[in-house]
Order: sequence, then structure tokens, then C-alpha cells
Amino acid sequence: MNKECITYYKYNALGAIMYIKKIILKISFISLILFNSVSISNSADTIKVGTLLPYSGVYTVLGEEITNAMILAFDEVGNSISGKNIEVIKGDTEVKPNIALQKARKLISSNKVDILVGPVSSSVALAVRNLVVQSKTPLIIPNAGANVLTGEKCSKFITRISFSNHQINAPMGTWLAKSGIKSAFLLAPDYAAGKEMMKAFKTNFEEAGGKILGEEYTPFRKTKDFGPYLARVKNSGADAVYVFYAGGEAINFIKQAKSFGLGEVMKLTGAGWTTSPLFIPAQKEAAIGFIGSLNYVPSINTEENKAFIKAYKDKFGRAPSEFAVQGYDSGKVIIKAIESLSGNIKDKDKLAEAISSVSIIGPRGPLTIDPRTNNVIQNIYIFEVVNGDQGPELKVLDTIEAVKSPGEGCNL
Ligand code: BEZ
Repeated sequence: MNKECITYYKYNALGAIMYIKKIILKISFISLILFNSVSISNSADTIKVGTLLPYSGVYTVLGEEITNAMILAFDEVGNSISGKNIEVIKGDTEVKPNIALQKARKLISSNKVDILVGPVSSSVALAVRNLVVQSKTPLIIPNAGANVLTGEKCSKFITRISFSNHQINAPMGTWLAKSGIKSAFLLAPDYAAGKEMMKAFKTNFEEAGGKILGEEYTPFRKTKDFGPYLARVKNSGADAVYVFYAGGEAINFIKQAKSFGLGEVMKLTGAGWTTSPLFIPAQKEAAIGFIGSLNYVPSINTEENKAFIKAYKDKFGRAPSEFAVQGYDSGKVIIKAIESLSGNIKDKDKLAEAISSVSIIGPRGPLTIDPRTNNVIQNIYIFEVVNGDQGPELKVLDTIEAVKSPGEGCNL
């Protein structure tokens, strides 16, 4: 082959390669635009709500109640807000902080959720706090009470519509001391919530003249046999035991305290979840006589509460508890916040502000968020478990109105 010929083929081959490259580039560019517009239009049409709740482990029933009731609130608006569909993506925390952190990362980075709802446990909430704040993912807390989340570690991206551990337990310290209980023994699971609840109770109880005769913290998620603790409580000679338990631990504790005869020698008192309407069907008669405090009681006599109880019973075949109320209110807050932005939720700062500015009338009554801390302001009900027409029920002894969480260290 002569020199010209070689040059001719060389240039033609080069030209062909360049031409093919150009086409490939064009195709990739077009598919990039197409792919993006599909994913943008998908995400633009859908509001993704990620849950960080327990669907396994000691607090499973709590996570399920919260999820059920939130989905009920979404059903009531046809699963659509301002023309956008709602998609709920579940993340099971297993009540384990390290697992919860992995699930939160996945929901934020892979699923690209717009809002997170969770957790149940204070320790889990403390574990995911920095991630949600740094990623600017608005978090609605439907249970976990860790004080600092609306205290020194508060953030505009965290709104708590449930309670703080202080808010539920401090009023009980004052109330029990004033009602004639002179001494108490404290018993709770050994993790953030148990410690904070006992501290809040103790501070107010002592301020009102009460004495703490002892305190014990049981290994969290591991204690099945409360026998040794019950013996020490009994031997203390206190007027009352003040406890916090929830989930399977609440059921076991109340049943074992009854078999042990603890209620015959002292008053059984504590954070009201210990005899939540969610656990009473399993605790039965053993729950009778317990005095506790909660942010919701089923007997609240309002149209909103009656309608909620009916809707929940119709859909799930049983009465709701305070956990369900917190899930339902989370759903309502999401709906109202997104409506206030006409569905425009791209700006996460604005979305977070809209969430904490919402006020609704829920089963608990009017729900307002304290603008200084982003923690809910609410009534606290002090109740006794009594025998009612349908079995054990919560009878309200006193209502402490519009209780705020101190929120020390927070200035939003
Ligand atoms: C908590 O860990 O904050 C908690 C768990 C169950 C009931 C109440 C509080």
C-alpha cells in the first residue's frame, strides 16, 4: 500500500472513531437528561416519609402503634397532600442505637426521604441526632423523650410532638409528695430514658419534702426476672415504688409485682406508660391500683378524640393508646405543614420551619409547639388504674395544664 493510501485509511478510521464517540456522548447526554427528569418528576410527585421506629425488639408494639396511626392520618386525606402522593418507607431501629444510625443513613442517602418520623427510644434518638441535623432532614419525634433533644441539643430540624422525659415525670414528684407519699424507691431500665425520668421525679419529689430511700436500674432489653429487684424494693420500707417501664418489660414488671404482693405493702406508682392502655390487656387485674402520669387518657371528652378512637378501632380492631395518638398527630402535623407550603418542600429550612409552626387539634386537644424549644406544650394527666365496665381503665385524678419542658440550653 502506498503512503497516500495509508494516510487515507488512517484519517477515515480516525473520523469514524470520532463520529462514534460523538454519538455515544450525545446518547449519554440525552439519557442523563431523561433519567434525571424521570427521577425529578418522581420525587417531585411524591412526599417520602421515612420511619425510624422499632418493628422488632422490646418496643415493637409501640413502633407499630405509631406507624398504624400515622398511616390512618394519611388515609384520611386520601394519601395525598397538595396533589402529591405520600410514600411511607419503614426503617426498623430494633431499639439499637447503632442499627438505627445505619437505617437513618440509608433513609436519608439512598431513599432520599423528605421527612423522618421517629424514634421511640431516647438512646436511639441521641444516636441519630447529629446525622439528621447535619443532613438538614426534618425529624418529627413521635415518642423518644430524651431531654437534651429539645434542650441543649435542640435544632430547628427537630420537632417533638410527644413529650420530654422531664415533662411527664417532674409533675408526679410534686403531686405524689403533696398527696401524702413521704418516701419512694426508684426502679427503671438502665438507659437514658430511665435515668432522666427518675431524675426529674426525684428532684421535684425531694423539693416537695419527699425522701428517696434507694434506686436501682435494671439491664435494658435483658431483664426478664424482676424478683431480686422487687425484694430490695419491698425491704426498703418506702411508702411507694416509682417506676418506668414500657413494652414487654412493663407487662412483665406489673405481673411479677402483683405475684410478689408488692402492692399490698406500698403504692405502685410511676411514669404512666408502665400501665399504658396498650399493655393493660396483657397485665389485666395486676394493673389495678397503679398511679401514673401521661400526656393522653382515652376518656378525653372531645369530638376529635371520640372520632379518632372510632376510626382507629374500625381500622385496627382495638382501642388506641397514647403511642397511637402521637403517631396520628405526627401524620396531621406533616399534612398541615406541607399544605402550608402548597406542597413545595424542596427548601428543607422552610419545611422544618413549617413543621414546628403547625398547630392542630388532635385527640389530646389543641397541640402547640413551644417556639423556644420545639417541644410540645400539653396537659399531663395523673391517673389511677381502676376496674371499669370493660375491665381495667385509667381514671383521671388530676390534670396539670399546659406543661412545658424546661429545655435548658436551647434558644431557637
Ligand atoms: C424513651 O426511651 O424515651 C421512651 C420509651 C418508651 C416510652 C417512653 C419513653
